[in-house]
Amino acid sequence: MTISRRQFLQSTLALSMMPRVAMASASELVAQTSMQQIAPQGYPETPIWSYGGGVPGSEIRVPQGARVRRKLVNMLPQPTTVHWHGVRIDNAMDGVPGLTQEVVQPKASFDYDFEVPDAGTYWYHAHNQSMEQVARGLYGPLIVEEASGPDVDQDLSLMLDDWRLDPESAEISGEFDNGHDLSHAGRLGNLITVNGKFDPSYPVQTSERLRLRLINAANARVFDVTLDGLAGWIVALDGMPLEVPLRVENSFPLAPAQRADLIVDVLANSGQAASIVSVERDGAYGLLKFDVSGVSSRVARTEIDPLPVNQMPEITLQNTPLHRMTMQGGAMRWLESANLGDAELSGRELAQLGRFWALNGYAERPDDPFLDVRLGSVHRIEFANETAFPHAMHLHGHHFRIILQDGTLGPWRDTVLVERGQVRQVALVADNPGNWLLHCHMLGHAASGMMSWFRVM
Ligand code: C2O
Ligand code: CU
Repeated sequence: MTISRRQFLQSTLALSMMPRVAMASASELVAQTSMQQIAPQGYPETPIWSYGGGVPGSEIRVPQGARVRRKLVNMLPQPTTVHWHGVRIDNAMDGVPGLTQEVVQPKASFDYDFEVPDAGTYWYHAHNQSMEQVARGLYGPLIVEEASGPDVDQDLSLMLDDWRLDPESAEISGEFDNGHDLSHAGRLGNLITVNGKFDPSYPVQTSERLRLRLINAANARVFDVTLDGLAGWIVALDGMPLEVPLRVENSFPLAPAQRADLIVDVLANSGQAASIVSVERDGAYGLLKFDVSGVSSRVARTEIDPLPVNQMPEITLQNTPLHRMTMQGGAMRWLESANLGDAELSGRELAQLGRFWALNGYAERPDDPFLDVRLGSVHRIEFANETAFPHAMHLHGHHFRIILQDGTLGPWRDTVLVERGQVRQVALVADNPGNWLLHCHMLGHAASGMMSWFRVM
């Protein structure tokens, strides 16, 4: 029996309508090489590394308390792992090679399976040779929704990045071990993108209320975010709701790995400019534009309520032990010496090995944790930045509270920007058992010495 052309078409149609996810498995996160238009139109596409074929990787959006299951399939030419940044996660799922798991070799896979206890804006990124792998595009947003979220017209995840591309070929500069970058401010780029696009524009209406989830996925750039044609509040930092939303007046810094959730109202009318701009010392960079047309039916612009809080542990500062983390090295304050494994090496020897920074005297993750603490105990950590550069210090598996100038407890964060010469204290309850990394999220700094860890048992 021969099959009629019509039947053939029908069966093809039926096949193509079958949910493909069922065949490819919806829960795979494939790390792979791909191509994407990163540079402005007219330039060639850029070879990138991505999760699933595009940067950022697809948004993972789940309700608070849900389980996230993803099989990482490594189709890259390098071993890799995934870290779920900011999630107070089961230690075995934290994605740190040599500390919580072995690297996932090319062609191999690893099953990530964890709960997300807190609502908020998180992200996932590669955590092996992260300086290179994140710079090549291995990151994506992880959004955990509140049971009852704020009343907004749009909810947008906006992943900021800063690429260093060859101005002609648009290829990613492969010079990841550049000693000048490592010992200075890190690998700053020459092209800023939002969600993998240069200067994108998002359609909005006048008077619309937007939730913007800004995520800084850049290797080294600290954005200084300002709003134009919009007015609004910061409602959460690093995923965690602020007790009192903070009106955006001028600009606010967003360091590598940090997130800020904004709720903004569109003030601009059709044809007028509305945008987000980063105002930095060397100039202003437009990050994205809003294309305003039409007027929303939203009438009164009211004050906003704080987001519902996450269930966080109580912190008391009384009798809380203080642990100092001294940050040293880098250009202008070169290391005299530091430990590498069991050996103490001179600054010159360290530089030859590509090590420029030290945390508490170690120019790499030491064998022993800098803190070994009891489950449930409360601690203060003092970051003393004796270097000539800012650093974005990130703690895995926990959020800490910033201790403000007046000694009171500030916002919950997982990454704190410590300016040059600054001393900043944070407080936390060590309530998540395991081995947890503590490092600078300027990824070149982490790779060249600013890496430590602590143990909670
Ligand atoms: Cu977002 Cu150890 O990293
Ligand atoms: Cu740093």
